[in-house]
Amino acid sequence: MAEKQRGRASDRLRSGISRRDFLRGSGALAAATALRTATEAAAAPAGAASVVGPGPVPVTLTVNGQTHRLKLEPRVTLLDALRNHLDLTGAKKVCDRGTCGACTVLLDGAPVYACSVLAIDAQGHKIETVEALSPDHPMIQAFVDHDGLQCGFCTPGFVMAAVAFARQNPECSEEDVCRGLSGNICRCGTYVGIREAVVEAARKMRGAANA
Ligand code: FES
Ligand code: FES
Repeated sequence: MAEKQRGRASDRLRSGISRRDFLRGSGALAAATALRTATEAAAAPAGAASVVGPGPVPVTLTVNGQTHRLKLEPRVTLLDALRNHLDLTGAKKVCDRGTCGACTVLLDGAPVYACSVLAIDAQGHKIETVEALSPDHPMIQAFVDHDGLQCGFCTPGFVMAAVAFARQNPECSEEDVCRGLSGNICRCGTYVGIREAVVEAARKMRGAANA
């Protein structure tokens, strides 16, 4: 389900290209580019194409309710923009290729791998990171109470994925959580505690302000 949610989020970013989408579509894109080169380029008026980069361009991000105006190269991922330019280091860079979930943040409420979204494509969307959650947020408290972490490196990503899941599934079972958080990996194997934590927090979050 988490993968589906990420897919839907990516669909909403129709104008954007995630890293995974990019890899998937690069072959077709190369062919299309060659065709355009042969047929259209000559017909296009000089300077008609809208090209940005490769140097830094203005990028405006709305993160945790605050507007940030940055200058970033278009190739910069949302994860690197958060960590290296906004000093928001909660989302972790582990695989950097959309497989582990350690970098999960919410985009318009849906979990996405921040390493696989370009910052420039996150403009105009509401970005939530783990820093937005207060220390006594029900999900954080539940992770603590149920020992849902060991080294903690995967935890911010798990917490954000869990918050998005719990908002949609307040009456979830542990089985539901298992499926819903399948896009996140914990190398320490704390899944039992995580499942218990999310079930408990989901019920507490229902109706709670700022949950
Ligand atoms: S660091 Fe983004 S999915 Fe692993
Ligand atoms: S707590 Fe160590 S990777 Fe999850």
